[in-house]
Amino acid sequence: MTAASATTADTFRPALHYTARNTWLNDPNGLIHHEGVYHLYYQNNPLDNVWGNMSWGHATSPDLITWTEHPVAISCDGEEDIFSGSIVFDRDNTSGFGTDSAPPLVAVYTSAFKPGTAHPGIQAQSLAYSRDGGYTWTKHTANPVLNRGSAEFRDPKVIRYDGDAGSYWVMVAVEATDFQVVLYKSEDLKSWELLSTFGPANATGGVWECPDLFLLPVDGDPENLQWVLTVNLNPGGPNNGSAGQYFVGDFDGTTFTSTTTVTEGLQDPARLGDYQWLDWGRDYYAAVSFSDVPDGRRLMIGWMNNWQYANEIPTSPWRSPMSLVREVSLRNDDGILRLVQQVAADLASLGEPTPSFSLAAVEISDGQHLLGGAAGSVQRIELTVTPGTAEEFGLVVRGDGAEGTRIGIRPTESRIVVDRRESGQTDFHGSFASIDTAPIRTTDGSYELTVYVDRCSVEVFAQEGQVTLTELIFPSSTSTDVSLYAAGGTATINNLTITQYA
Ligand code: FRU
Repeated sequence: MTAASATTADTFRPALHYTARNTWLNDPNGLIHHEGVYHLYYQNNPLDNVWGNMSWGHATSPDLITWTEHPVAISCDGEEDIFSGSIVFDRDNTSGFGTDSAPPLVAVYTSAFKPGTAHPGIQAQSLAYSRDGGYTWTKHTANPVLNRGSAEFRDPKVIRYDGDAGSYWVMVAVEATDFQVVLYKSEDLKSWELLSTFGPANATGGVWECPDLFLLPVDGDPENLQWVLTVNLNPGGPNNGSAGQYFVGDFDGTTFTSTTTVTEGLQDPARLGDYQWLDWGRDYYAAVSFSDVPDGRRLMIGWMNNWQYANEIPTSPWRSPMSLVREVSLRNDDGILRLVQQVAADLASLGEPTPSFSLAAVEISDGQHLLGGAAGSVQRIELTVTPGTAEEFGLVVRGDGAEGTRIGIRPTESRIVVDRRESGQTDFHGSFASIDTAPIRTTDGSYELTVYVDRCSVEVFAQEGQVTLTELIFPSSTSTDVSLYAAGGTATINNLTITQYA
């Protein structure tokens, strides 16, 4: 189908999440805050709403919630598709692409060379630069700048390393089918020297893609910094298909050493649940972080889709949303270092939300309890619950009595569940209807959930962002009910607040 011929009503278009106007997108690329603006580039097919013609699309935002789409930033051509990568602000003009007084932005991307070119079938790293703050881009004439002769070498994320070993650019990229992150160093972004490799480790049930490396304080302590290496893999996630894992440890300027590795070498499938995941849901992939965010905040976006069914989700004329922007931080949790995530987007800039629904201190009994006056399809739901005798309790969103997406806690199993088997349209792909679960812990016996519902998705942040599950759903536009439920007994709702955004 071509984008121009789209006719279906656009009822799934999210209000809070970025979508391209009428084309396909996948991975976020080149995330950077520059001159007061957040730039989101992304894998884009400018001509259609399925994967192909890979180029970098572009959008900007002042507040991480309202986005403006711009013309394609870096375009595929007869030689190459433009695969994923990153952007740095070359403030000292090390690359020479700008001037000392007007330093450039430099994009480092994967050239996926086409058949019949000088490097047929090869993936190698290339540069483009912008002298106008990221709106127009020129490809470097001496591309590629880093070629290992590999068909699976991609997704460079470049950071500025400033530490005991010196000050230089560091690239993390992948040898995707070797389950390896490769680290390189450069003074000028043009000539690269191999530093080390990391992996295989933990999950290796699919190719490794889109890595990232960043420093975070533990529990906000600037004296206690740890490095985090994130690696996306496809398939092989904890609930099938695409997902992202992370490792915490040290980077000495040459080598990343993980202190959280469970399995060295190839994956032990039985350990999948023991690895650390950026998100346990089915639809949070290729997540990477922004460069140069003020106040040292670490903000990430993931592609809200899964390669298992990505090209078939029933949206039109666009296909695939981005996730909400998340702030990640590192917490020492009984000796285990874990990422916690909160939504960073400033929802206040959407204007005053319409009336909220709230209740407090109510015991619910076995069954489903419709909340009159709480219906909606773009909402934030905040819930704290204390278990009673029920084996499972929680919320049903986007419901109509028959249809609905169930988000629940099973306290005796210490698990959170998102069940989208009855969520609406599921039959466009055999692996879409799913019940997905994640481990969840409580210290005081109660559970806290913050759920963002946005027309075609639920993003669940549990226990103040210790566990997240992100899932696409395709309900009827008339399925807007919100209910509470308990199965096999009681539970006490300590607090429930629902804020409507559209
Ligand atoms: C991840 C990925 C990347 C690649 C891009 C191509 O989703 O496969 O490894 O650069 O998508 O669109």
